Amino acid sequence: MLIETRDLTKSYDLGAVQVDALRGVTFGIDEGEYVAIMGPSGSGKSTLMHILGCLDTPTSGRYSLDGSEVSGLKPRELARIRNKKIGFVFQNFNLLPRIDLVSNVALPLVYHGSISRSERFDRSKKLLDSLGLGHRLGHRPNELSGGERQRAAIARALVNEPAILLADEPTGNLDQRTGREIMTILGDLHSGGRTIVIVTHDAGIAEQARRTVHIEDGRVARETVV
Ligand SMILES: Nc1ncnc2c1ncn2[C@@H]1O[C@H](COP(=O)(O)OP(=O)(O)OP(=O)(O)O)[C@@H](O)[C@H]1O
Ligand SMILES: [Mg+2]
Repeated sequence: MLIETRDLTKSYDLGAVQVDALRGVTFGIDEGEYVAIMGPSGSGKSTLMHILGCLDTPTSGRYSLDGSEVSGLKPRELARIRNKKIGFVFQNFNLLPRIDLVSNVALPLVYHGSISRSERFDRSKKLLDSLGLGHRLGHRPNELSGGERQRAAIARALVNEPAILLADEPTGNLDQRTGREIMTILGDLHSGGRTIVIVTHDAGIAEQARRTVHIEDGRVARETVV
């Protein structure tokens, strides 16, 4: 199994109160699966995605990624694994505003060390081109439409050729048509063999995935498979 969690919990200690965002999540995702995560606002979906994406660590429980236990790792080691195995797409794109698209997409490669600057830029340009942004390479994010920004964010998520693509409401800030374009891209990536996990509030979007995991109140409430 590519992703395997056991009794994952995440609590936020806010002094006077403690928020239990995850209350024991146990599930697995096989290589090549396309999984949707659905659930009410505040149910813990983003918290779970951040942990799956090695952007955060659980309070307790286990998380095994591609055969190795990552729940106890220090931030530096976690960052290394994230860089190698995971691409993350956010609802609000999270592109850096002061640098152009090519530089944004090339950024994750900087941490690789062994890839030259010209190769970093070549790879980024090719990816942007393949996502229909070849004419926007030198533009900054704020000069682009929402759909263009999200395509650039997908390019950035893919530049390291990760096995897993995690997307947290990637169409949440897009109109319907642009959202469908993004979903087509994700569908193509899945057909190409990538494992994809997407959080969505849209049942129509979730239908594209084979399997939907429903999160309620920090737990897996049920799963549906089509
Ligand atoms: N950094 C934080 N500090 C304190 N509480 C947090 C933090 N992040 C999330 N929470 C709380 O944890 C719970 C789960 O939040 P989370 O963002 O995972 O929900 P979600 O399912 O993604 O919701 P939405 O659909 O609105 O995006 C919420 O009650 C939220 O207020
Ligand atoms: Mg969320």
